[in-house]
Amino acid sequence: MSDTMDEATLQSALSNPQNLGEMPDADAVGTVGSPDCGDMVRMWLKYKEKDGRKVIDKASFQSFGCQTAIAVASLATELIRGKTKEEALQLSAAELSAPLGPLPPMKIHCGQMVEGALKAALEAEQGAPAPTAPASAPVATGPTLADALNASGKSAGKIKIVLQS
Ligand code: FES
Repeated sequence: MSDTMDEATLQSALSNPQNLGEMPDADAVGTVGSPDCGDMVRMWLKYKEKDGRKVIDKASFQSFGCQTAIAVASLATELIRGKTKEEALQLSAAELSAPLGPLPPMKIHCGQMVEGALKAALEAEQGAPAPTAPASAPVATGPTLADALNASGKSAGKIKIVLQS
């Protein structure tokens, strides 16, 4: 069993990251940070109508983080194009990072951070237009991303990801 990442895919995603940068006309933005490593990923989403369905037209990201997070974010922004919000919400960190192969244990949180940023952006679009909310604390309504991440963080032992504004 191989537990190593696909270095060629990693390097190619890093040398030519897709959809890198802020999206000024985005419909939604989501940001998460990891207190463990201090890294952060922000993702922007833009929707469009297609065949009567609202789908993701494009996505972009910024990452103040490690190479793995950048590579996964690059892959993720490509993967989610054309998907509905519901379809995108189904995607796990493992699916988003699949082209890289299995992430080594110390890099699993990098993929989870990208998943968290994506889900934060997907959820942000449902409610208030987020960016100016006075939030450094996690959003506290209902079963939110923060709840889910906290729960999974506990069961996984060490992973803790927080929402940031
Ligand atoms: Fe923290 Fe990769 S080491 S995101």
